[in-house]
Amino acid sequence: MSEKRELVLILDFGSQYTQLIARRIREQRVYCEIHPCTVPLEKVRELNPKALILSGGPSSVYDEDAPPFDPRVFELGIPVLGICYGLYLVAQTFGGKVERATAREYGAARVVVERPEGIFHRFSKRETLDVWMSHGDRIVSLPPGFATIGVSGNTPFCAVGNAEKKIYGLQFHPEVVHTPRGSDILASFLFDVSGLHPTWTPGSWTDEAIDIVRQRVGADEHAVCGLSGGVDSSVAAVLCHKAIGDRLTCIFVDNGVLREGEVEQVVATFRENFHLNLIAVDEKKRFLDALRGVTDPEQKRKIIGKVFIDVFEEQAAKVKGARYLVQGTLYPDVIESVSFKGPSAVIKSHHNVGGLPERMNLQLIEPLRELFKDEVRAAGESLGMPRDLLYRQPFPGPGLAIRCLGEITEERLAVLRKADTIVTSEIHQAGLNEQIWQSFCVLLPVRSVGVMGDGRTYEETCAVRAVRSVDGMTADWAPLPYDLLGRISNRIINEVRGINRVVYDISSKPPATIEWE
Ligand code: XMP
Repeated sequence: MSEKRELVLILDFGSQYTQLIARRIREQRVYCEIHPCTVPLEKVRELNPKALILSGGPSSVYDEDAPPFDPRVFELGIPVLGICYGLYLVAQTFGGKVERATAREYGAARVVVERPEGIFHRFSKRETLDVWMSHGDRIVSLPPGFATIGVSGNTPFCAVGNAEKKIYGLQFHPEVVHTPRGSDILASFLFDVSGLHPTWTPGSWTDEAIDIVRQRVGADEHAVCGLSGGVDSSVAAVLCHKAIGDRLTCIFVDNGVLREGEVEQVVATFRENFHLNLIAVDEKKRFLDALRGVTDPEQKRKIIGKVFIDVFEEQAAKVKGARYLVQGTLYPDVIESVSFKGPSAVIKSHHNVGGLPERMNLQLIEPLRELFKDEVRAAGESLGMPRDLLYRQPFPGPGLAIRCLGEITEERLAVLRKADTIVTSEIHQAGLNEQIWQSFCVLLPVRSVGVMGDGRTYEETCAVRAVRSVDGMTADWAPLPYDLLGRISNRIINEVRGINRVVYDISSKPPATIEWE
């Protein structure tokens, strides 16, 4: 971590909103990191934060099993903002009294500004703020030195502060969208109270990240990277290439279940435009042989995962001096919100080349592990990567195998690819690509009767799926315009031999998933 960068430290007490706090701070162009509330004091000193935020959390400060926390962080003399649980922790630590509220308060509420100072510096006296509450405790007496700066109908201690110590607390959540002026409160905390500077951008971050990789990988050492052509691995690869040039070898595996033109596109982009040292291995046959006759979704996934690791291992073993494995792990994959239950690094299995680092004695390089997806895209832009690559829709590791329901054959894959290309190009032409999280086709092993010209057809069905989502965890089916759906259907039935019926999937997640298998 560079000394130049001003860091805000967020201590996580397990709130579902902790990641959101981090996002909101970074949107103000200030760098921040989330650490579990159990982080040792020495580590906090080493991080040298310029301000501290204590998150909310599901516990109560008076609970026997309240998350452990070292109150000596208050002696660092840096500004502190406690949110919800963080507020109660401040109140209790400094000698106030916290107890269970008679009624849990959850949802929209109003706060009246009592003193327009400190974190309320950007408001005027008596101004009313719409806020979002989620708590079951309340402060009954304020600690000495603290004053009320905002009141709600339920409590006179809704927003409190100690101007001299620069310690503030809020009973509501400024980080959620339901608190529309929340960003003014956070801005006041960062700039008016803490005197920070809005200088951090994912772009400024890239130079630093390149430096870190350069220093880490010795002059005669090499790194390998599994490049899928997706946003995360692509940005990680380009960034590492800037750091260590040809000492990075990227391995791209054609597993036979990629989309139309994908191999050519990845090779052209990365080998020709970015001059990456790229090995593209054609293992179509190996994957399709292993998948022959398999119809069970989980089996398909397992087979693809296993063959991928075998192939990757073989290829990586050929790279002389390989000591590092580059992965595009992102921040949401790394942190677990209920982190005080034990620091754990959660990495999605598809991001991890399962067990390979240990087996091959490779050390992981994860240059994006501090970033959110939109920040990765911004970093990619500052690395000169094209927008259409950075805004590509997610594509699952098991590829078309989990969109080709039933048995996977070359013929059925070819049919699916053609239909999928039509959906992709129509969505692009309609200018909807960046508004839609994913849009694709699923080939169903369901035949139905149709009539084309004078002849009877008996062919398979194609389901078109288009969803809107923020993170893939939940999703709504996209209300695509009828004329667009009509064009997609017409084109697929007319142009793709093997499909004579198109249906549109109008299921949201949950209870359905985005992929069909
Ligand atoms: P589901 O189908 O669970 O998918 O709603 C959520 C998101 O994850 C993607 N997905 C995967 N990505 N390997 C991946 O890299 C996988 O095995 C995998 N399965 C699903 C899916 O496309 C969606 O964006």
